[in-house]
Amino acid sequence: MKKLLLFVSILILAAFTALCTAAAEDAVSSATLSVNALPQVQENENASVLVVYFSTDDTIRAAALTAADALSADVFEIVPTEPYTADDLNYNKTGTRATVEQRDSGARPGIAVLPESLEQYGTILLGYPIWWGQAPKIIYTFLESVDVSGKTIIPFCTSASSSVGSSDTNLHALADDTVNWLPAKRISNRETAEGIRAWALSMDLPVKEESHLLYIKIGDVALTSTLTDNSSAAALVDLLRQGDVTIDMHDYGNFEKVGELPVTLPTNDEDISTEAGDLILYLGHRFVIYYDHNSWDFTRLGKINDVMQAELKAILGEGDVTVVLSLEE
Ligand SMILES: Cc1cc2nc3c(=O)[nH]c(=O)nc-3n(C[C@H](O)[C@H](O)[C@H](O)COP(=O)(O)O)c2cc1C
Repeated sequence: MKKLLLFVSILILAAFTALCTAAAEDAVSSATLSVNALPQVQENENASVLVVYFSTDDTIRAAALTAADALSADVFEIVPTEPYTADDLNYNKTGTRATVEQRDSGARPGIAVLPESLEQYGTILLGYPIWWGQAPKIIYTFLESVDVSGKTIIPFCTSASSSVGSSDTNLHALADDTVNWLPAKRISNRETAEGIRAWALSMDLPVKEESHLLYIKIGDVALTSTLTDNSSAAALVDLLRQGDVTIDMHDYGNFEKVGELPVTLPTNDEDISTEAGDLILYLGHRFVIYYDHNSWDFTRLGKINDVMQAELKAILGEGDVTVVLSLEE
């Protein structure tokens, strides 16, 4: 049996060595995913998906960040305590660090920092480059160092030419059997960002909707408001993504402050009886803050959170007022 395993290993090594000079050079030079064009991934306190990855030459990093962006997931990079040098990774030389580690079943390269807690995440996408047909041993260190019990883990890997092989199933023994392991996805070094996004979204994981919180700043006071789920509020968000909007508002009818938006937004008019705190779009280009009752056919944009009528009136004050609409606190 041992002889057979040795023979199979030699075959894999021989096949990879034949391919790797050309293929891995290609991997670095022509990977379609570029770190320069990566989306910025924000930490998101409500994310239920975490993308964990280890990368030495940015291919998996690009795939991981693209998938995380598509899923509004959090990201954790496994950073080795001792970084891998180009020489450490040189598979054409015998005795280099990565090759030695991959051959040593007990090798557990150190990780600089571990995540404080994985509690909030139900699903972990675990990304690694294929090294000699397997996941790098630092992935083993990771799985043995954190509590992943009860989670769904979806491994994904990039490689020059190898398939997933046993690289994913060999990880199963490193976590307890409450983990729901899904089959790994192999991503070609040449995959496009669109391809990664399509794969990430095809898994039907819980995607966290972007929360639409609008800040209305009046002097030193910042009121938060929850936006309505319609095309008018979405267009307002698009406008505010380009920058804050300042509106000079005046009283009208003893029940509202109203001012002009710089652009006309799509309307979704309906018969509305207003309450204090309602944010309304009138005629597509007037932004209205209601502090009293009115009934009309206009578009709901949102509602100011947690404010009583008297308090709102006091904040808005008598007469003209300048308000700044913003997506940031
Ligand atoms: C030490 C080492 C071993 C590798 N072994 C394989 C292999 O067995 N099969 C393969 O197709 N690619 C192999 N590769 C290529 C990498 O899997 C591939 O380029 C990967 O996308 C690199 O990801 P990264 O840029 O995020 O580190 C190896 C690369 C290194 C550095």
